[in-house]
Amino acid sequence: MKKAVIFDLDGVLVHTDRYHYNAWRILTDRLGIDFTQERYDSIRGLSRMDSLERILALSSRQFTQEEKEAMAAEKNEAYLQRVRQMNPEEVEGDVREALKGLREKGLLLAVGSSSKNAKLILERTGLTAAFDAIADGSMVRRAKPDPEVFLKAAALLQVAPAEALVVEDAAAGLRAAKAGGFQAVAFGGDAAGSGLADYEVTRLTELLELA
Ligand code: G6P
Ligand code: MG
Repeated sequence: MKKAVIFDLDGVLVHTDRYHYNAWRILTDRLGIDFTQERYDSIRGLSRMDSLERILALSSRQFTQEEKEAMAAEKNEAYLQRVRQMNPEEVEGDVREALKGLREKGLLLAVGSSSKNAKLILERTGLTAAFDAIADGSMVRRAKPDPEVFLKAAALLQVAPAEALVVEDAAAGLRAAKAGGFQAVAFGGDAAGSGLADYEVTRLTELLELA
């Protein structure tokens, strides 16, 4: 019997993973870096700067810290242009049904995201009030695969890691969950089929049977 469910945001609650990919592509196309969907999958869940480092490692060029910061800011601006257009209709019925059903079962619900834009996305999609706690990239020092953001979410909910499920689309997120002592649920992305999770679901309403 679980007390809480902690959700990753991008690629789990909303399809912002696509917007991240499209925003990175503007940069990689200009730099002549072959950044495929498959390569994006391998960096899912990493922080903005860790993602950029992994992407630039695909180039033969070297970049200064100043150039990297400018590139990260440019990518974020392209990403935010799309995020600012988000609305509640972008949240799938299955997601809303799962959140409602879990709450009715008495579970505490939180978001555990590496993103510094998490609160804006939750506001734009009308999801903020669905959660008892939100832990995001602006609140932690170490990004996934470090467990800090999930431990922060559990602390805000006042539950122990063993009492919570973490739902992730990223292998880095599953590693973070396991390192923190949580049970991990894979949902799409590069999490599905990775062998890193305790459970795997294809719809979030399946969580109603697990939690
Ligand atoms: C999420 C996404 C990553 C993204 C990270 C930072 O974890 O899965 O792809 O790099 O957040 O997002 P941000 O919105 O702060 O750039
Ligand atoms: Mg994700």
